[in-house]
Amino acid sequence: MKLRRVDDQIRFGLMWFNSQTPYATSRVTAEANPDVLDVNVQMELARTAEQVGFDFLFYADGYIGHGEANARIGHGEPRLSAPVWAPVAMMATSHIGVATTLHTRYLPPAVIARLGANLDRLSGGRWAWNIVPGTKDDPLIGLPPLEHSQRYAHAAEAVRAVKAIWDAGDGEVDFEGEFYRFKGSMMGPRPVQKPYPLLFNAGVSPAGQDLIASECDYGFFAVVDDLDKVRGPVEQLAARAERHGRDPLEVNLVGSIGMVVGRTGEEARERLEWIRDNLDMEAARGWAHSFLVRSKTYQDTHQGDVDEVARSVGIAAGSTVLAGTAEEVAEQLLHIHRSTGLRGFQILPLMWSVEELKAIGEVFPHLAKAGVWTAPEDRGWSW
Ligand SMILES: Cc1cc2nc3c(=O)[nH]c(=O)nc-3n(C[C@H](O)[C@H](O)[C@H](O)COP(=O)(O)O)c2cc1C
Repeated sequence: MKLRRVDDQIRFGLMWFNSQTPYATSRVTAEANPDVLDVNVQMELARTAEQVGFDFLFYADGYIGHGEANARIGHGEPRLSAPVWAPVAMMATSHIGVATTLHTRYLPPAVIARLGANLDRLSGGRWAWNIVPGTKDDPLIGLPPLEHSQRYAHAAEAVRAVKAIWDAGDGEVDFEGEFYRFKGSMMGPRPVQKPYPLLFNAGVSPAGQDLIASECDYGFFAVVDDLDKVRGPVEQLAARAERHGRDPLEVNLVGSIGMVVGRTGEEARERLEWIRDNLDMEAARGWAHSFLVRSKTYQDTHQGDVDEVARSVGIAAGSTVLAGTAEEVAEQLLHIHRSTGLRGFQILPLMWSVEELKAIGEVFPHLAKAGVWTAPEDRGWSW
């Protein structure tokens, strides 16, 4: 079982290879990547991620794609269903955490509690739940849209309901909330991790941040070039966690960040430029549109300008992209860590191969030398 260790060392997650080109809207990256639907490819990449020192793999998920242009180049579609494919990585590895998205609006608490308990048992206590309220997919599921604050009130209640089922163990649960009322006893297996499997959420709005501060272990958001915009959320989340009676170190904010690591800095930067030059702008617009529909925060910050959003969102979903040698990238991460207080990074590789993951893994020892990273095996493979 993976234990939760509360310390100030940086954790690294890997935003998983779940479509042919998940983090660049480009045909060139889609063609260079291995076949995403090949189970052996999935297993080999997962084993490599564990060997090079990642703490967890993160499976994003959804039900509808970003548009025709995206589907044509393999961006975000076809996409692996998180709870179905995560066991492939679980079975290929022994220690790394595996986080799957499960939407609270689409799956009743008992279904989430049961899937989660089974995934936690199957992985030997290495599963984490990425809590997503759900929005973009509502029409396909056949649900009327919920207004943003209602969406988070619903998600927060769903999380309490799932925890209540896990808390009940073999006994009966009797839950009465605003959205859910249910009663009964759920059969095992039970989750391995105590008190609960690890909980992640990527909300950036005040309602999302409150859900993270009150119920979750890890929060996520995108690292942007203006580091003041990163430091703010880190400090606000720490303050919110304290208001909920928690030690701020218990709630780790993880910044998603793009990465291209090369043997020389020039090679890495040239590769990034090649990807940028080969972006499919129609697909980038499709991706930007998805963000705008899903996130109130994106709507507020990018009013009306889909093309501008598309240019930045087409690579790494608009997150900062670091390109350079392992040492150069480590220096940049160290700078971000020191100037913002961020203690976690979720890496979005623009291209996928065993070599690419090994190159990223070469960044970590430089951070160990700086005293901000400890290899997972030396931390007992803890979260
Ligand atoms: C690292 C990261 C991973 C995310 N994963 C998913 C996902 O798998 N499925 C999904 O529908 N939304 C996902 N989102 C979107 C968030 O759930 C959320 O809607 C978004 O960050 C906007 O926050 P807000 O709802 O508080 O405005 C992700 C966001 C980030 C930054």
